[in-house]
Amino acid sequence: MFQHFPVHAADYDGPVLVTGAGGCIGSWALALLVRAGVPTVAFDLKEDTRRPKLLMSDTELAQVRWLTGDIADTKRVREVVESTGARAIVHLAGLQVPFCKADPVAGAQVNVVGTVNIFEAARALGLKRVAYASSIGALGAIPDSPWGATLYGAYKYCNEQTAKVYWQDWKVPSVGFRPGVVYGIGRDQGQTSKTTVALLATVGGKPYDIPFIGPVSWLHAGEVASAFLKAVSREREGAPVFDINGISETVENSIALLKKLEPGMKVTCSGKALPYPMDLSDDPLRAYLGDYGRIELEAGMRDTLAAFRALVARGQLDPASIA
Ligand SMILES: NC(=O)c1ccc[n+]([C@@H]2O[C@H](COP(=O)([O-])OP(=O)(O)OC[C@H]3O[C@@H](n4cnc5c(N)ncnc54)[C@H](O)[C@@H]3O)[C@@H](O)[C@H]2O)c1
Repeated sequence: MFQHFPVHAADYDGPVLVTGAGGCIGSWALALLVRAGVPTVAFDLKEDTRRPKLLMSDTELAQVRWLTGDIADTKRVREVVESTGARAIVHLAGLQVPFCKADPVAGAQVNVVGTVNIFEAARALGLKRVAYASSIGALGAIPDSPWGATLYGAYKYCNEQTAKVYWQDWKVPSVGFRPGVVYGIGRDQGQTSKTTVALLATVGGKPYDIPFIGPVSWLHAGEVASAFLKAVSREREGAPVFDINGISETVENSIALLKKLEPGMKVTCSGKALPYPMDLSDDPLRAYLGDYGRIELEAGMRDTLAAFRALVARGQLDPASIA
């Protein structure tokens, strides 16, 4: 799967720090960086390498310098960036929609204060390669938006405004991303992870009902990780924010495609459509970044199913655990 996503060591002038490295997109970022031979620093709450190990061998993982701490801890974040000599930051640490709803204060600490901490460290150390994850959910926070409003989206929108002011006041550049629905190996939590769960259920021969219908974006985790890495492959100016959607399809048609690949699958869908736009264009981002790779939906689904099958056979994933 990695061959679809070009990352070149010559584009980096030192270590790349990935926050939230134990998460889905973070695991892909680590795997792509290590494969390209870029010095890589991982930062997360714990050294939980369960997801990275779905994509990397032990030898590859041993090349990652793994540091732990809370992204909301200003002193620790600064210390990590400084002590590792990081030249670029891919900031992914965050709490997703259900976690922000369950604990709004923790959501604000991680998603808002954590992002300010990254900008503070970048400002103090003069970093000019910072990319951070906003979300399609931020669109629900824009005044008079027709899209669903969540605390998560409010925090992400705050991150985008924060980025703009760090550029305006201190010339700290950044690139913000609004990913749609990410799928692929490692996507196992959050409101929109259910399309990936359906693929794992299929591998396990289990019935699974995706709890939403209608349009959905299929953004491969490797593709979005590659875009983040491309964003920090050179020094930037300004604080632009881009949508990144991947392929737009309905859940119903996606199930039909899955049936073509796996005739015995038992996936259905029900409920309402997701309250976010699912068909935004990636063209402005592609024009800005250049080539960061892409994978079509059928190939992405087929590769993900094959990888899940191998991981289940090795005992690293268990479809029986799907609720
Ligand atoms: N997956 C998607 O579809 C999607 C869509 C839009 C935006 N995003 C954003 O992209 C980023 C990465 O998404 P993902 O799917 O990899 O998320 P994920 O939930 O798989 O991983 C998030 C990681 O952040 C870490 N983290 C949480 N709190 C932390 C803290 N206090 N300090 C340090 N690390 C902490 C977690 O341990 C986890 O490893 C997130 O900011 C998310 O909001 C994701």
